[in-house]
This record gives sequence, C-alpha cells and structure tokens, in this order.
Amino acid sequence: MDQKNEIIAADFDKLAEAADHTRWDHNNNYYKMMLASIPPELPRSAPAIDIGCGTGLLCRMLAGRFDKVIGVDISEGQLNIARSQGVPGCEFILGDIMDLRLDESTYACIVSVAAAHHMPYGALLEKCKKALMPGGVLMILDLYEPKTLSDYLLQGLAFLPNRILEFYHNRDNPRTKEEIALWLEHGKRDEYMSIKELRDEANKTLGGGFRLRRLLYFRYLLTYIKPKEQEVGISR
Ligand SMILES: C[S@@+](CC[C@H](N)C(=O)[O-])C[C@H]1O[C@@H](n2cnc3c(N)ncnc32)[C@H](O)[C@@H]1O
Repeated sequence: MDQKNEIIAADFDKLAEAADHTRWDHNNNYYKMMLASIPPELPRSAPAIDIGCGTGLLCRMLAGRFDKVIGVDISEGQLNIARSQGVPGCEFILGDIMDLRLDESTYACIVSVAAAHHMPYGALLEKCKKALMPGGVLMILDLYEPKTLSDYLLQGLAFLPNRILEFYHNRDNPRTKEEIALWLEHGKRDEYMSIKELRDEANKTLGGGFRLRRLLYFRYLLTYIKPKEQEVGISR
C-alpha cells in the first residue's frame, strides 16, 4: 500500500473503534434508493462489489439482492466489523481496489459510497466499466466540491432537514468528541472534485450513457449502465 493509502487506512482504523456504526448519516440515507435503482433484470447469480465498503452495511443489504457480494476496503479495522456480522454471501477483501484484478464483464452491480474521492477517478471508472457485465450497473455516491451558485444553494437548502434528521435519528447516540476530532483530522486531507470535473472525467471514460446528479445531503450520485451491445449513450 502506498503512503497516502496507509494514512487513509489508519484514519478509518481509528474511526472503526471510535464511531457508532449504527447511526444515520449522509451516506446510509441513500442506500435504499441505490438498491431500488438496480435494474430488476440483473441476475442474482452474478456478483456485486462494494468499493470502500467500510463496516459493510450496504454489502449486507446487497446480499438480499445478489448471491455473492464482495466488499473491498483498505482499513482492517472497518473490515473486522464488517466480517463480525457474518452475513452469508458476503466476502470481504482487504486491499486497494486499484491493485485488485477484477474479472472483465463479470459483475452485475458495482457500488461505492463516500470512498471514490480517495481514488484516481478516471482509472476507477475505467476499471469498473471493464468489470461490469453488459447491462450491469455502476453507482458511485460521493462528496463533491461546491463551485456554482446552484451547488451552494442546494447545500444551503440541506441545512435545516439535515439538523432535523440528525436529531430524529441520532438523538440517543450523538457523536462523541473523539469521533468528531477524528473526522475533522481526516477531512483536512480530503479533496473533492467539482460536478463539472466529475462529469468531464465520466464523459471521457464512460463515453456517455451515465447520469450524474446532485443529491440533497452534500453528495452526488453517478449511475452508469453498461450497454448490452455497442450502444452509444447520452450523458445527462
Ligand atoms: C467514508 S468511508 C465510507 C464507508 C462506507 N462505504 C459507507 O457508506 O459508510 C470510506 C471508506 O473507503 C475506504 N477506502 C479508501 N480508499 C480505498 C481504496 N483505494 N480501496 C478500497 N477502499 C478504500 C476507507 O478505508 C473507508 O473505509
């Protein structure tokens, strides 16, 4: 593992111990929506991957839809929690996704939540595109750098509902000071791409056929369905 990933893995090892993983957050808020977006015709028997799976909640949810789900993460601490849940069909691999060899045209569903900003974006998209089976779906939910007025307005709009949902879901288990300090420390090293940069990269790599939209809670969702034949898609 390179030095950058060692630092990221160490951050998430510490967070694995300090954080309450049952809490509502801006990521798991969208899991059900992502599951509902999986094309119904995709076979159960084809595998799914969650890149940067953390403690594996989304893997466990995907295991209800696919017979085999592989969670990949560079943090051993996060994976220890994921493995301790012992869900049939879920396998967890420790490692950098960029170093793993994925069989081509094999995976029905590839997801990644709040992790893609740690990876070289174009190379990640390229890898996922190759690994998807024809008709397979890629969904990347991640943070973005607000740049435009509408980005800032949308993020401003989220302020009140965010406070209400945070209170509603997490009032009995608010974040500890230790966890907040760890997130702040981790955040200092995080860098995000703007929506334009993400769209340009996706256009270059996926060649259209994807949908990239901003969501309320400071996230975007990129959805791409690999063409069954050599269809040329149009990006929106
Ligand atoms: C903010 S957490 C998100 C975890 C989970 N996906 C969720 O929705 O809560 C980001 C995760 O990505 C993992 N990660 C970062 N870079 C990675 C890489 N190159 N390969 C695999 N996992 C990586 C981190 O270790 C961490 O567990």
